[in-house]
Amino acid sequence: MKQVQIGVIGVGGMGERHVRNLTQEVGAARVVALSDVDGVRLAHTAAACGAAHTFTDGVALIHHPDVEAVLIAAPDRFHASLTQACLDAGKPVLCEKPLAQSAAEAKRLVDAEVASGRRLIQVGLMREYDPAHLKVKQMIDSGALGRALAFRGVHVNAGSLTPRTIEDVIVNSAVHDLHSARWMMGDEVTRVHVSYVPYSADRPETARLVLIQLHFRSGAVGCIECNVEAGYGYEVDVKLTGERGSVETSSLQSAVVRANNQRGQWVEEDWLQRFEIAYIHEVRAWVHSLQAGVAAGPSAWDGYMSLLVADACIASAQSGQPVDVDIPTMADMYRRK
Ligand SMILES: NC(=O)c1ccc[n+]([C@@H]2O[C@H](COP(=O)([O-])OP(=O)(O)OC[C@H]3O[C@@H](n4cnc5c(N)ncnc54)[C@H](O)[C@@H]3O)[C@@H](O)[C@H]2O)c1
Repeated sequence: MKQVQIGVIGVGGMGERHVRNLTQEVGAARVVALSDVDGVRLAHTAAACGAAHTFTDGVALIHHPDVEAVLIAAPDRFHASLTQACLDAGKPVLCEKPLAQSAAEAKRLVDAEVASGRRLIQVGLMREYDPAHLKVKQMIDSGALGRALAFRGVHVNAGSLTPRTIEDVIVNSAVHDLHSARWMMGDEVTRVHVSYVPYSADRPETARLVLIQLHFRSGAVGCIECNVEAGYGYEVDVKLTGERGSVETSSLQSAVVRANNQRGQWVEEDWLQRFEIAYIHEVRAWVHSLQAGVAAGPSAWDGYMSLLVADACIASAQSGQPVDVDIPTMADMYRRK
């Protein structure tokens, strides 16, 4: 079967990894074009992957006739407009999370995609491709544990001591956990209640640790702890509790060392280490879905719903009160097979 010709927009940390994975791990793909506003990075990545075309303007890449599908890994603020440009050009797109910067922006993309009549958008909510997350999902879906009663997520970043706003922590980081909660529980979130710890008492607009309580449509409950300034490394784990047992991931997969009266394990530095395999599986599955002509993976709807819950989380953090989420009606094209 013919290779899918891909253009990648944004070749920083995440984009460069996607280019490497597409080039080295996905035989069915060929990276033919790159775009970045940083000319040095652009030239370096193009030399490494052999892409023939380079652009400083992402929209020019989208319209190039050699580009059959687009991967967007530019900063968050460009996601919605570049994804819309892909829809306008009729080209499939894998857009990094978050799909947009607000639910209203994401809804415009959902509406445009529904109007086009076919799914073109996949969103980089890649925990669906992490083998450990998948095992948890398969276990709860098997029914062996009975009905799901509770979701628990822990997301820890080493941090950089650069204070992040509460909006950024929720929309850029916790959006992954909000999607995991929806996806794993197979349910929508109807209410959130958020509390958080700012970087300092005089910077209440910042957040270094956020606690999100969730209520689901089924009556189940959940809790997410997102600590973006842990200081020691990167960890993501989930636990689901059912009526007859529970199932959880354990992110620490490294060797166990016993020495000097201590027992220890190495903790991953960042997401590129922790989710190395998931990123490969994500782009491989995306390219195979393009070849098959059957859209799969996290959709624009998932991108939209995770942002709808994220917006409610921001409102709750600001007011200190629980906030309800009005769940809109989903178009049939987004129903999971
Ligand atoms: N799925 C995940 O687990 C995950 C992990 C990290 C980052 N991300 C997402 O990936 C995206 C990129 O994050 P990153 O960590 O690689 O950031 P980064 O800063 O390392 O890279 C961003 C790149 O985009 C380039 N850029 C800036 N404006 C551009 C434009 N208008 N057009 C084209 N390129 C442009 C920058 O020069 C830079 O090379 C973000 O949206 C982020 O949320 C996702």
